[in-house]
Amino acid sequence: MKKIVILTGAGISAESGLGTFRDEGGLWSQHRIEDVATPEGFARDPKLVQGFYNARRATAASARPNPGHLALARLQAGWPGEVVIVTQNVDALHEAGGATGVLHMHGVLAGALCAACQHRWHAPDEMRVNEPCPVCHAPTARPDVVWFGEMPYHMEEIDHHLGEADLFAAIGTSGQVYPAAAFVSQVAAAGASTVELNLDPSAMTGQFDETRIGPASQIVPAWVDDLLRSRI
Ligand code: APR
Repeated sequence: MKKIVILTGAGISAESGLGTFRDEGGLWSQHRIEDVATPEGFARDPKLVQGFYNARRATAASARPNPGHLALARLQAGWPGEVVIVTQNVDALHEAGGATGVLHMHGVLAGALCAACQHRWHAPDEMRVNEPCPVCHAPTARPDVVWFGEMPYHMEEIDHHLGEADLFAAIGTSGQVYPAAAFVSQVAAAGASTVELNLDPSAMTGQFDETRIGPASQIVPAWVDDLLRSRI
């Protein structure tokens, strides 16, 4: 049966109240990427960076999945073939909406990582500067998110799924950050069908077989309904 691979971005969580990055008033209009989302920024001012992620962790903790997240979980449950969700998002709204096996290629807000021994644990709500690692006790805890200049997570597994995709969907992403922005050309070259669901045309829009424009909470459930009816 047909395998579906879905890439999501900040747009699918926008209607849950989590800010996107590049929309009007987005996170990157409030903070400089080099200050809060690079290893250099963290080394320069760990208090600023821990504060940035503590604030995002608090916002994410009170957010609820929207019909877009719920529809993708419904697709996973109702589709006879495999449905793999790869997300650039660091929130846990896909899982809260019932999705399983979600691959967080940019890490997770709820995760803490020890920069010294690579131990991972559930992040405290408020991560302090020089937060000690519970294993090696070095004062080197950081958010377990992927910063610019760092390697995204799960890339080998993601490549494997992209190679097997019969249908690829990109939902709520501006297509401005690699390697995620290159997924559509990778799967199209391998013969997959492609569809984009987004509030506005993105940097990738011309590369899809089909583009559906609108808010995720409306167009994602409609797309899932069409798929489950069609059983492509
Ligand atoms: N429904 C659907 N799409 C939406 C909605 C919505 N309600 N609101 C916004 N969008 C779309 C915007 O049109 C935009 O194309 O979501 C996209 C958000 O783009 P970005 O803010 O660039 O977010 P994203 O593509 O996820 O960024 C990728 O960049 O900064 C890094 O690590 C960060 O994971 C992030 C990566």
